[in-house]
Amino acid sequence: MSKTVLVSGGAGFIGSHVTVELSQAGYDVIIADNMSNCDETNYNGVCAILGKKLPFIKMDFCDQAATDKLFSENKIDAVIHFAAFKAVGESVAEPIKYYKNNLDSFLNILQAAKDHGTHVLFSSSATVYGEPDVAPVTEQSPRKSATSPYGNTKQMCEDFLRDCVAAYGMHGIALRYFNPIGAHPSALIGELPRGIPNNLVPFITQTAIGKRECLNIFGNDYPTPDGTCLRDYIDIVDLAKAHVCAVNRMVEGRMDEPYEIFNIGTGRPLSVLELVNAFQQVNGVKLNYRFAPRREGDTIAVWADPSLAERKLGWKATRTVEETLAAAWAWEKHLAGK
Ligand code: WQD
Repeated sequence: MSKTVLVSGGAGFIGSHVTVELSQAGYDVIIADNMSNCDETNYNGVCAILGKKLPFIKMDFCDQAATDKLFSENKIDAVIHFAAFKAVGESVAEPIKYYKNNLDSFLNILQAAKDHGTHVLFSSSATVYGEPDVAPVTEQSPRKSATSPYGNTKQMCEDFLRDCVAAYGMHGIALRYFNPIGAHPSALIGELPRGIPNNLVPFITQTAIGKRECLNIFGNDYPTPDGTCLRDYIDIVDLAKAHVCAVNRMVEGRMDEPYEIFNIGTGRPLSVLELVNAFQQVNGVKLNYRFAPRREGDTIAVWADPSLAERKLGWKATRTVEETLAAAWAWEKHLAGK
């Protein structure tokens, strides 16, 4: 009897890629999304990749009654929670919007998971480490006080999950992603930022395709080898596979502790300039970029020690940054109808 996984925010960038991997691993997947930050492109792409229509429910997890109805009407073995606002800058300008949406939705999911015996997998972020004193960071590295309401909601939701596991005998895993980039090799699903992209890779691909005039590299005077910030860019398909490994661990009862945290990164720091040059090289395109002033709140250098996920989840990133950037470019060209 196959197990059922609910993917909240499943029509989004990460949710859609995770849905593909879960389905291909034999799970029945229910996608629920309020479509506030995406359209049907990725959902349609998921169905095309899988060759079948997946159950899709348009709903808002801030609606407790709707959330409980969903869990009451479906036997859900595990829920993966992606449905949240995620723009760092916007969260600074709109803290109430971010706290209400990101916290209420997760609290409703935790209540329903508690009532229905569902395992919980939370989409956390390396942003909880802030500017680490030492890199690479392990899961024991201290969390720094958040520099944005967005980052604060990630820390608070980790704590909600930890406390619910302790109080109610639930099981939960938090995956701390580093910088998710790329697209599915089919070029049928990928990152679909609304308006001007906040993140680096979609801005690169949109500049390369001619949608943006020039890429600003925010700061080249940092204390790093080439003066630009260092990050751990994790391929979206590698990231999606990590979720399958985490769900397997929960539903097969292989957890060491009822609440576990894993860094999901490559362990390979890359600078902005290195990523830009790799993109130009692998895709044979010339990118129009300039060095601009630093961006407020940027971390100088953060990358993962992913060894715990390798040991416990049996997961390791396998795709090269060249493969990832080629897939990102193929996706952008697909969006442009090229
Ligand atoms: C990466 C690097 C920028 C755009 C954030 C969240 C994280 C995760 C990913 C939400 C930085 C530089 C960027 C540009 C640039 N979650 N950059 N020009 O800030 O590391 O992480 O997004 O999606 O939780 O914190 O990602 O891609 O914005 O920036 O030079 O136009 O690229 O300064 O050094 P970040 P990013």
